[in-house]
Amino acid sequence: MTTTSPKSVLITGGAARVGAMIARTLHASGVNVIIHYRSSAAAANSLIEDLNAIRPHSAAVVQGDLTDSQTPTGVIAAAVDAFGELHGLVNNASSFYPTPVGSTSVEQFDDLIGTNFKAPYFLMQAAATPLRESRGSIVNLTDIYAQRPLADHPVYCAAKAALVSLTRSMARELAPDVRVNAISPGAILWPENESDDDATRNSILDRTPLQRIGDPSDIANTARFLMLDAPFVTGQIIAVDGGRSVVP
Ligand SMILES: NC(=O)c1ccc[n+]([C@@H]2O[C@H](COP(=O)([O-])OP(=O)(O)OC[C@H]3O[C@@H](n4cnc5c(N)ncnc54)[C@H](OP(=O)(O)O)[C@@H]3O)[C@@H](O)[C@H]2O)c1
Repeated sequence: MTTTSPKSVLITGGAARVGAMIARTLHASGVNVIIHYRSSAAAANSLIEDLNAIRPHSAAVVQGDLTDSQTPTGVIAAAVDAFGELHGLVNNASSFYPTPVGSTSVEQFDDLIGTNFKAPYFLMQAAATPLRESRGSIVNLTDIYAQRPLADHPVYCAAKAALVSLTRSMARELAPDVRVNAISPGAILWPENESDDDATRNSILDRTPLQRIGDPSDIANTARFLMLDAPFVTGQIIAVDGGRSVVP
């Protein structure tokens, strides 16, 4: 895919935070975007209103809880319907919270594996045919914690590690028509549902060579590169982490 060819890209969990920045960045490059959301209806509708004001008929929404088994197929069908074809998929939706050993429920396990691993697989499977037709591209959002486990988050870390492996497998399975890559972010936005104290956040920054938290635009620009400007890149996991992954 080159900068001129992609026409429509689905971003899961695209209503807010990193996903919304990815959507805005791709849209600014001339791409039509389909914003998937689960519960952030107001944010999703406000985002597509903004984007459609910039360029009419260039943004659409699709709703669904990706832990429901029928949702991935339905979301891909709706994304294809929105613009008549599909050129890209960004697997951004995710749940993230601690699951200490000894108190992890089956529901938490299923939710973390469901959003971070199972849904991306079934989205990629459902998107394979339209993406092959368009010679499209997939970008998965993983996490540096896939490689270096975060304390008290064993299920989330394992789910993201599975997504790393899946990215490499799918790059083989969907070649030569579809490229599949991943971005492995370090600290970009602090989680909304976590009450990290300053000491925890400072210790993360102390182990980050660039000595700062990232910005959603750091991830979005990398997604744009992988989606639009990297026609010979597939099966790669790009760390966007301020150098965190090179510090022991
Ligand atoms: N933020 C960081 O610093 C950071 C660091 C490392 C990796 N990452 C990865 O980068 C990506 C974006 O990060 P983020 O912090 O912006 O993500 P986020 O805000 O935690 O989650 C993104 C969206 O995922 C959607 N989602 C959650 N559960 C869902 C479900 N069951 N079905 C459908 N959608 C669901 C939510 O949509 P609704 O709001 O519509 O419910 C949410 O807005 C994620 O994959 C994350 O793991 C982020």
